[in-house]
Amino acid sequence: EKASASITRFPLIRVRGVPLMSYIANNFDSVWDFRPDPSDILIATYPKAGTTWTQEIVDLLRHNGDAEACKQAPTPVRSPFLEISSPPPIPSGLDLLNKTDPPRIIKTHLPFQMVPRGFWENKCKTIYVARNPKDNLVSYYYFDQMNMTQPEPGPWEGYIHKFMRGELSWGSWYDHVKGYWLEREKNNILYLFYEDMKENPRREVERIMRYLDLDLSDEVLSRIVELTSFKNMKENPMTNYSCVPAPVFDLSVSAFMRKGEVGDWTNHFTPEQTKMFDEDCEKQMRDVNIPFRSLI
Ligand code: A3P
Repeated sequence: EKASASITRFPLIRVRGVPLMSYIANNFDSVWDFRPDPSDILIATYPKAGTTWTQEIVDLLRHNGDAEACKQAPTPVRSPFLEISSPPPIPSGLDLLNKTDPPRIIKTHLPFQMVPRGFWENKCKTIYVARNPKDNLVSYYYFDQMNMTQPEPGPWEGYIHKFMRGELSWGSWYDHVKGYWLEREKNNILYLFYEDMKENPRREVERIMRYLDLDLSDEVLSRIVELTSFKNMKENPMTNYSCVPAPVFDLSVSAFMRKGEVGDWTNHFTPEQTKMFDEDCEKQMRDVNIPFRSLI
């Protein structure tokens, strides 16, 4: 009750140039000081790129496909969100991390340069997931409508411009995907694409398994692929975010497990918006060559 009274669409405050929800911005110093254990696994994404899906895959891999073990608690408890911070009594990401023994599966949306240095000093395994920008934007647009702690998305056309200018929470998508891409070799980051996961989830689950130095049977891998299908995760109360109370996530506005598809942007962008967005995207991505299968 008390918590819901203080839930509000928080303004964004820039930290090192990156807009963050005020609660996160105000607590950023303690996040920056966080010291992970070398056994911790980091899952890093721009919001709405497939974080929850990857968290579930990794948790199941770590539990040898044991569905019951992964249904003991909702995603954000089993895999804490490093920088998240809300009005008390809602526990912050750091509160949860401090209560959990390593090895932990830690989620972050922070751009590379704002991730606490200990992750790189300790050579923590890090999985990055990138999603094509127009689908990522559409997913974020629905999320901002239902997440009552994020700023109002406003009208669709304006939202596209905010995304292009990097004015949404966690900043520029372009800087985000580039930042991790440029660091992937030096820091042994496994860089995945949402579109690859959709095309062949089995292949990508195996890729993650190998990266984590695990060796599971074919049968277990098949079970993990099945358990992490969009349909199963949408129906699973431990992964579909029905754990978050209505004043925070209004699932009647949009489900967290909304559509889970590649190419939904075609249902939202007009031809003019597509042209404008693609031209800008080409400019912003000119200095890197990240193998998105459909950047535009
Ligand atoms: P849509 O809004 O396009 O449906 P995140 O976890 O980073 O917030 O990303 C959420 C997006 O990933 C949503 O996209 C959600 O539906 C999609 N998603 C979640 N689980 C998925 C799964 N198992 N398979 C495919 N997409 C999934």
